[in-house]
This record gives sequence, C-alpha cells and structure tokens, in this order.
Amino acid sequence: MNQLDMPLIDALKEYCDKNKIAFHIPAHRQGKSISNAMVDLGKEIFKYDLTEVHGLDDLHSPKGVIAQAQKLAARAFGSKESYFLVNGSSSGIEAMILSVCSKEEDILLVPRHAHRSVLSGIILSGAFPVYIYPEIIDEFNIAGFVSIEEVKKELEYYENVKAIFMLTPTYYGIATCLDELSTVAHKKEIPLLVDEAHGAHFYFNDSMPKGALKSGADLVVQSLHKTASALTQASILHLNSNRININKLKWCLQMLQTTSPSYILMASLDAARNYMVVKGRDLLAKSLEVARKLRKKLSSIKGIEILSHHHLKNYDILSLDETRIVIKVTGIGITGYQTAELLSEDYNIEVEMADSCNIVVLLGLDASFDDADALYRALLDIKERFSTFKAKSMPKIMRLPKPVVVITPRKAFMSSSKTVALEESLGEVSACSIAVYPPGIPAICPGEIITEEVLEYLLEVRERGLHIQCSCDSTLKTIDIVEEGEL
Ligand SMILES: Cc1ncc(COP(=O)(O)O)c(C=O)c1O
Repeated sequence: MNQLDMPLIDALKEYCDKNKIAFHIPAHRQGKSISNAMVDLGKEIFKYDLTEVHGLDDLHSPKGVIAQAQKLAARAFGSKESYFLVNGSSSGIEAMILSVCSKEEDILLVPRHAHRSVLSGIILSGAFPVYIYPEIIDEFNIAGFVSIEEVKKELEYYENVKAIFMLTPTYYGIATCLDELSTVAHKKEIPLLVDEAHGAHFYFNDSMPKGALKSGADLVVQSLHKTASALTQASILHLNSNRININKLKWCLQMLQTTSPSYILMASLDAARNYMVVKGRDLLAKSLEVARKLRKKLSSIKGIEILSHHHLKNYDILSLDETRIVIKVTGIGITGYQTAELLSEDYNIEVEMADSCNIVVLLGLDASFDDADALYRALLDIKERFSTFKAKSMPKIMRLPKPVVVITPRKAFMSSSKTVALEESLGEVSACSIAVYPPGIPAICPGEIITEEVLEYLLEVRERGLHIQCSCDSTLKTIDIVEEGEL
C-alpha cells in the first residue's frame, strides 16, 4: 500500500458493484426506500455538508429549524419532546442512564442481555446494576425476554431503585408490551427507560408490535437508521414524562455528542420522519406481506425452522417483528456462520447476522418479493447441496453463570487492573466484560467475582472456540482483574 491507495473507498465501491441483495440494516436497503428529499440531497452531498451557519440552528441549543424538526418528530411518535442523535442510539442510552443515576447507591434494574452501551452508561453514571436474566429460547439458543414478574420481585427487594431499563424489541425481533411495567414503575415513582433501537418502525403500522411510547415509557431511544430509512448513526431520544430532569438530560446529550453534528445526518432524520408518516403504513404493509409469504415458504424447507410466536410460549405480552426473520439452519447440517458465508459468496445475498445456529434477515421497508424469492431459492439450493450432511445437533446449551456484583462497574473501570492467566483468576474481581455468542449475554461484567462457576464456563467457552465480545483478551488466555489494593 502507498499514499495513492484508498483501501476503504475501494472496498466500498467493490462491494456496491456486486449489487448484493440486502437483508440487513439500514432498512432503506442501500437507498431503495428513501424520501425524495434525501435522493435530491444525496446528489450534491458536499453542498449540503454545512455547520451552524445563519438560519441552520444549533443541535445543542435548538430554537429554529432543528427545534421545529424535533417537534414534528415528537408529534409523529407521540412523545413530549424528541432529541436528534448523531452518535447513534448508543449515545442516547448512555445519556438516559446518566440523567437518572449519579451515585453508587443508585440502583438500575437492567436486562443482562442489554446492548453494550448500557454498560457504558452504567460506568459513566456510577450506578449499581441489578441484572435481570432473560429466559433462553432453547430451540434457537437465543436470549428471549425478561419476565415482568422478575422485575417486580427486584423492585420490591431493593429500596433505592432509580429506574428500570428495558430492551424491546430484542435483536432477534422479540417485542414486549410494556403497559404493565410502566404502571409498576410509575407506582414506585421511578422512570422506565427503553432501548427501542430496533423498533422505530413500530409506530407506523398497526400490525406491528406496540411501541414503548404508547405504553407510557418515560425515555425511549430509537435507531431510525436501523429500521426507518435514516442514515447510519441517526437516532432519536424521546422524552415522554415529567419524571425526568430535562436540563440534566440535555446536558448529558451535550456531553456525549459531538459539537459538530452532521447536518446530513440530522436532515436524514427529518426526511425519515416525514417519509414514515406519509408512506410508512404502506411500505410496512408490503414488507409484512412479503415477510409472511417468505416465512411460510422457508418453513416448508426440511431442516429449516423459523422463530415464530409459538416459540414464545404463550406469553401474551410478547410479539414478533415479523419483518425480521430468525432462521435456524442446523437441521440442514451446517451452522449459521456457514450459511451466511455461502449466501454471500455463492448467491450474492447479504444477511443481517449469523450465529452458530441461526441467520437473521431483515426485510426492511418496501420489501421486495423478488429478493425474498431469491433468498428462498438460495436456501433451498443450499439444503440440496448439503443433503448428505446429517442435521447438526444444537450446540450444548451451557448454563450461564450469574456472578455477584461486588463493586460497581465504574469502580472496577476506574481501579488499577492487571492481566492474569484465566486459570489464575479464581476469586478475583473482573475488570472487564465478556459476552459469549450465542446467546450474547455477558458471562462476566466489571465489578463481578470470578467464581468457580464463571471460571469453568469461560474455560469451556475457550475450549469450544465460541465467539466472544469482550473488553480484554479475545482468545481468553488471559483476563483483566482489579488489583487487590483497590478493593
Ligand atoms: C439492542 C441495541 N440497542 C442499541 C444499539 C445501539 O444502537 P446504535 O448503533 O444506533 O448506536 C444496538 C446496535 O446494534 C442494539 O442492537
């Protein structure tokens, strides 16, 4: 390589030249479903790449056009106020936690399978997390949902709970109706904070699951870039109650976001709101029609199983985002990872995600019958190609450890730490987080004791070579622990 090379530009061009069939985020499917305003803007992108010049307002103190655009967004989603985010929902999640928790005694009830930005918010705020473990859907080996009863139990047990944090829908499209939970939270006079990163589209078609704002959640963050046609990174934080200190929340947003917000990203939020209000219902109706047909056809392929409502075990507060399809492929005799690779290499199809058992496909807005048919035919062909393979047994589901939090994640983060061999970490306090995929739930977080159960689990993960996401050594030969003098 030399300075004349532009490896990223080349890779992007090469990728786009392949004209892949996209079943992944962002939902606009590489510009196939966007507002005309964004089509025009996209033609002269540099012309519109402006900052806070006269008449264009200021994201961090909006009084003009940004304030108006945010007001329209609030009206469209049904919130009291809405704030544009240019650092993704991650920044909104951090801001909402930081705005309600600020002391070590402040307890946050939080699902253990929450997105990693939740841990960042907990570290920034100093909150003491009480984790609620999700049920596992064994057939797919994925994290399912948290039981409202569990949340209620913890709420009764702990005195100083400052907020309940919830995730809906999950990455696998499982949505929880939050009516009861918001009533429970509000009886205790605490706010319900919701990560609805994957659910911005729920508000624009009545056949979609019920949105968290409609259930009375106090703060809700949504990635409009994931499911509602905005550009990548463009998200919205909605405020929906009087239980939040607005000035503090705004300050948190100022601290966590750039002082040079991109007008292209903000414009894409304005355009996405308009597009969803005007056309969302029809676009989603089409996607639902394509999804339902595809689900039916895929279910007819021997060896393939589709995550459906009956896997949610009659929990009447749960529903599925039907436009996101979880396809278990182990019955064909190959893993989810292999399937995603075959689809990409041999069939020009790119999926959203793969794990050892499943692939996840997103139909996006205004889904295409032809694309859905191409996916069906590809999977049918893959099934034929591997017909001599024996169905892969589901990997043994490892019982997830439930470590005890002894110091807050913030204290662990701020402490001096050292790296030791994993085998030598028994009884130590972790300075890092390690999540294993599937099911994508952290086995250990900063501030938790590495018990025998945790150590055995991590050793088995290492031996099996499972995919992990961590803030330390990804080979798991070593682990970062808090230095003794810090405890
Ligand atoms: C469940 C969940 N929450 C939050 C986020 C963060 O969203 P963003 O990428 O907009 O920062 C993600 C990202 O994938 C996610 O899956």
